[in-house]
Amino acid sequence: MCMIVVNGGKPLSGEVGISGAKNACLPILAATLLNEQPVTLHNVPRLDDVKFMGELIRILGASCEGASTSNTVAINAADVNSTEPPYEVVKKMRASFLVLGPLLARFGRASVPLPGGCAIGQRPVGEHLAALRALGAEVRQEAGLIIAQADRLVGTEIYLNVSSVGATENALMAAALAEGQTTIHNAAEEPEVVDLCRFLTRCGVKIEDTGTKSITIHGQSRIAAAVEYSVIPDRIEAGTYLLAIIATGGSGRITQVVPEHLEALLFKLRECGVQIETGADWISVDSPAVLKPATVRTEVYPGFPTDLQPQTTAVLTQADGVSTVIETIFESRMNTVPELRRMGAKMRVSDGTVVIEGRPGCLTGVPVEAHDLRGAATMVIAGLAAQGETRIEGLEHLLRGFESLPEKVAALGGDVTFDYGKHTAAAKE
Ligand code: UD1
Repeated sequence: MCMIVVNGGKPLSGEVGISGAKNACLPILAATLLNEQPVTLHNVPRLDDVKFMGELIRILGASCEGASTSNTVAINAADVNSTEPPYEVVKKMRASFLVLGPLLARFGRASVPLPGGCAIGQRPVGEHLAALRALGAEVRQEAGLIIAQADRLVGTEIYLNVSSVGATENALMAAALAEGQTTIHNAAEEPEVVDLCRFLTRCGVKIEDTGTKSITIHGQSRIAAAVEYSVIPDRIEAGTYLLAIIATGGSGRITQVVPEHLEALLFKLRECGVQIETGADWISVDSPAVLKPATVRTEVYPGFPTDLQPQTTAVLTQADGVSTVIETIFESRMNTVPELRRMGAKMRVSDGTVVIEGRPGCLTGVPVEAHDLRGAATMVIAGLAAQGETRIEGLEHLLRGFESLPEKVAALGGDVTFDYGKHTAAAKE
């Protein structure tokens, strides 16, 4: 069995560099399917999810070199010859569903297996499909597949009922090759959506009001531009290292980040008594003698990110007093609570709200299990804060989203090792 082994109880200190954003580079890799010319992506993290997306676009007939082995990935989608990605590859990762929009827009049809729910919630795709229908596609579900067809998509007004990141991205990519102008209303404003817009702009697509709730895309008849593009830093990885430092009562600096992408977290940490300084591309934190409790509520960007909620919950076990964490985005994202309790935390959960009776030093290393990517990072943070050894089952989840984690934790003076056993990566986010 593959395991993460954490030897905790020491304050972290030092400096760590942040990798490129997983959730930015996955949609950008899907968007390369729109482009008939070669694309070179820089600052791509070496992760299992990037490997899965690389496999997927290769199966469709594109070439893709370097995915998960290098921080530079070269893609050429000139010769894509299939619009039907197989279930065996798609099921490994929910972000695979992002190939639907670009395949439909460029080739007039696509047949993509319906992604299931996952450890953090049901993950519906109704908004993705409604957006494609609004662009004129005929979309139906048949034998577990979403089959979409349209001779040529036609620009329109799209209104999303929820500001879904994935639905905004699928709609953006489809609209890039639609005839005329499309406006996506109630669009997601996450930095990863902005990064996709910037990539599409480099490819020659004119996009207005990027990073707002109403994005306008001027569709092209074709996209054929050789492009080099560098992916933004991973704000979730950055937040995870800041939280790890604070959970251990340490101090340190993260570099290669965009501090404004982390504003909601930094506000909360200041409330907890953490001293914070920021520069153009770095953030330093210094833990207080006693961490104050807080109330945290997840929201779409620029609100507090759901992808940092479980890690923050782990940190608040170390505060002196009662904290409340309210999860509003993913209904089942509380699966680390029983594991944290086994380590000694006092907390109760009901209806998406966790109440934590924090007590500094309450955690002890025990064998625990991680059920998803951010949950695995959470258990690493808890393990670093705990006395003794924490053995975490579920290394495969962590490998999907954190590049070189043992080395980065070591740069902060912490001790995390991987026991690979017979690792086969196969999970979802
Ligand atoms: C992306 C991120 C994920 C992050 C999430 C929210 C990637 C690869 N993953 O996931 O890490 O946690 O954004 O920031 O970028 N919803 C609907 N109908 C839909 C689509 C979504 O009701 O058709 C709901 C979901 O159930 C959820 C909410 O919208 O409650 C947000 O989901 P969404 O923004 O779509 O998340 P993803 O794009 O799947």
